Amino acid sequence: MSEIVETPRPKRALSCIQPTGTPTIGNYFGALRNWVAMQEEMDCFFAVADLHAITVRQDPAKLRQQIREMFALLLAIGLDPEKNVIFVQSQVPTHAELSWLLACNTQFGELSRMTQFKDKSQKHADNVNAGLFTYPVLMAADILLYQPDYVPVGADQKQHVELTRDIAERFNSVYGNTFTVPEPYIMKKGAKVRSLQDPTKKMSKSDENQNAFISLKDDKDTILRKCKRAVTDSEACVCYREGKDGVNNLMELYSAVTGQSFEEIERAFEGKGYGDFKMAVGEAVAAELAPVQERFAMYLQDKAQLEALMKQGAEHAYAVSSRTLYKAKKKMGFVMV
Ligand code: TYM
Repeated sequence: MSEIVETPRPKRALSCIQPTGTPTIGNYFGALRNWVAMQEEMDCFFAVADLHAITVRQDPAKLRQQIREMFALLLAIGLDPEKNVIFVQSQVPTHAELSWLLACNTQFGELSRMTQFKDKSQKHADNVNAGLFTYPVLMAADILLYQPDYVPVGADQKQHVELTRDIAERFNSVYGNTFTVPEPYIMKKGAKVRSLQDPTKKMSKSDENQNAFISLKDDKDTILRKCKRAVTDSEACVCYREGKDGVNNLMELYSAVTGQSFEEIERAFEGKGYGDFKMAVGEAVAAELAPVQERFAMYLQDKAQLEALMKQGAEHAYAVSSRTLYKAKKKMGFVMV
């Protein structure tokens, strides 16, 4: 008698990125590059989180362009639209709807504790809007709609994924099992790429100092220049140690690109100055980005193809997410016709 072998459902992952400014190598090494690796192993959903972007005031024409650019970039880094569901959040109406249902199941105190809310409300003190406060609820909706097992993010988003787990667990216990409780999936290498000018802070695309970040659009000369100007220390030793934040950051970056361990890097640059090391980091980063930049320009040129792919992604995402939304509404007591 032959045995029946059940094939388990492949693991599922979901993640999103905001279309605010050009992403940096922080977004790339902290998140995007891992997405490319994950598509080989899991069922993946990736979205451009444009509804999150409007928690900060946006210029409409610029926002429209940035949404297109971010979508093109997801394709350019190597995400295959036939293997994954790649979509734009605002084109899938289930996100905003589930967000309201979850908002009524999230506490004011929980949202007040979010460090990103505290940071952003200080930074945009003239526009501390309700959306900025409920931002993590929309993020929970993005995630829970697709029942993913994993949420690949950089370290800065971990708190939001943990809140998502709390919301899901509470909802499941009040209304019955509805949502998969997902795990944050944080890669060690690149989880927190730091500012090149102030390595105590994370690298951010909204930094006023252009030398603090490397954008995915920067050409080789710009990358080399920014690496050359990166803040280090006066010790002239390429070694990974506490207190050497600037050097540690460059070593983490170099390790993320080349796959070399810190020991290997220390050996390779023994007796050499920071100048040589910074150039090597710049060269490696530029070489990694060159093919992405080429494909990005190609995808961006063909607006019709880009929009057709957006539509395909949105339809697929809607089909999957509306099943979860239906289930959640029914459990909460709405009349489903
Ligand atoms: P966003 O757009 O700020 O960043 C996208 C991803 O990049 C990671 N990241 C970094 N990783 C390492 N070092 C850095 N310096 C760095 N800067 C950014 C972020 O951790 C993130 O993984 N709220 C999210 C977007 C979002 C989302 C979601 C994510 C909306 N809905 C659902 C996951 C699931 C955000 O603002 O990411």
